[in-house]
Amino acid sequence: MKIGLFGSGRVGRLHARNIAEHSHAELGAVYDVDTAASQNVVDQFGGKLARSAEEIWAMPDIDAVLIASSTNTHVDLLYGAVHSGKAAYCEKPIDLDLEKSKRFAVIAEASDVPIFVGFRRRFLAELQAVHDRLRSGSIGRIEMIQMMARDAQPPPIDYVKVSGGFLRDKAIHYFDLLCWLTDDAPVEVHAVGSCLVDDSIGIVGDVDTVMVTLRMTDGALCQIANGRRSSFGVHESIEVYGADGRLRWDPGARSAVMSATDGGVLHIPPKSTDIYFGQESFAAALDSFVRAVKSGEAMSPSIGDGIRAQIIADAATASLQSNRPIAISY
Ligand SMILES: NC(=O)c1ccc[n+]([C@@H]2O[C@H](COP(=O)([O-])OP(=O)(O)OC[C@H]3O[C@@H](n4cnc5c(N)ncnc54)[C@H](O)[C@@H]3O)[C@@H](O)[C@H]2O)c1
Repeated sequence: MKIGLFGSGRVGRLHARNIAEHSHAELGAVYDVDTAASQNVVDQFGGKLARSAEEIWAMPDIDAVLIASSTNTHVDLLYGAVHSGKAAYCEKPIDLDLEKSKRFAVIAEASDVPIFVGFRRRFLAELQAVHDRLRSGSIGRIEMIQMMARDAQPPPIDYVKVSGGFLRDKAIHYFDLLCWLTDDAPVEVHAVGSCLVDDSIGIVGDVDTVMVTLRMTDGALCQIANGRRSSFGVHESIEVYGADGRLRWDPGARSAVMSATDGGVLHIPPKSTDIYFGQESFAAALDSFVRAVKSGEAMSPSIGDGIRAQIIADAATASLQSNRPIAISY
C-alpha cells in the first residue's frame, strides 16, 4: 500500500518511519508547507517530494494518506482524501471546530472512503488487555476510573498556539480511552486548570496542568489528571475500580497490568518494549489502519469516535473557562 504523508513535524516523522518499516506499506509521497522538512523525510524514509497537496491527490498510485499536519489543516485535507477516493489516517483531533468536523463526517459517511482517527493508545497490547477484562466484567460494574498522563516536557510554543488548548489537544486521548474502555460516554464534565510548567503557555491563553471530573451515563465517576511536564519522563497510568475488584495499567511499574479481585491478585508483566509507548502505539495504530484498508473492515477509531471525543473536549474547555460543570449531549 502506497501512502502519501501530509506533515513532516514531530509526529509526521514518526509516522514516516513506521510506514517505511511496515511490511505491507511504503511511503509514496510527502508534502509539508515547509519543503525543507518534507525533503528531509523523503531523504530518510523514501517517497516523492510533493510540492502541493493537489500533487498527492492526483497521484494514481497513492492508495491512502496519513494526515499528520497541524490540526487546523486536517479537515481540508480530509475533503481532499474523500474527493480523490484515498483512505485516510487522520491524526487527532479531527479539527478544532466541532461543526466543521460534523459537516465533514456527513460527507465522509456518504462516500465509502474509510477514515481512521489516530487515537493510538487503544492499540497498546496492555490497554487492550485492560479493555477486554473490563468488557468481560472481570471486576464487575465500574464505579471509579482514575487516569494520569504527564508528558516529559511541553511541546514548542508554536505548537501550543495552534493546538486548540490542552484539553482539545492532550486530554482528548483520554476522553476517547474512557469511552472505549467503558463502552459508555460522559454526560457531565468539570475541568479545572493551572499554568505551572511554562509561563509562555499561560501567555497564549492555555493551561499546562488540568484535573477533569466526568460523570458517565450509568453514574460511574472518572478523574483525568494531565500535565505537560514530568521530571522523570512520560508518566501514564489508569486505574479502574469496580464492584468486584480493581484493574491497574501502569507501564512504569514492574507489572504493567494488575488485576485484584476477591479471587486474588494477578500481575501481567509489561508487554511493551518501549517504556514510553510512543513508537510502539503509533506503529500498532498504523498497522490496524493498513489491515482495515486491505480487508475492507470498518475503521476503528472511526470519525464518529473522533467527533465524540471532540464534543467532550469542547465541553471540558467550556467548563474550564467558566469554572462550572457542563452537561454533555451528543
Ligand atoms: N497521536 C498522538 O499521540 C499525537 C501526538 C502529538 C501530536 N499529534 C497530532 O499530530 C498533528 C501534528 O502534530 P506535530 O506535533 O507533528 O506538530 P508539528 O508542529 O511538529 O508539525 C506539523 C507539521 O505540519 C506542517 N504543515 C502545516 N500546514 C500544513 C499543510 N497545509 N500541509 C502539509 N503540512 C502542513 C508544518 O509545517 C509542520 O511541519 C497535530 O494534529 C497533533 O494534534 C498527535
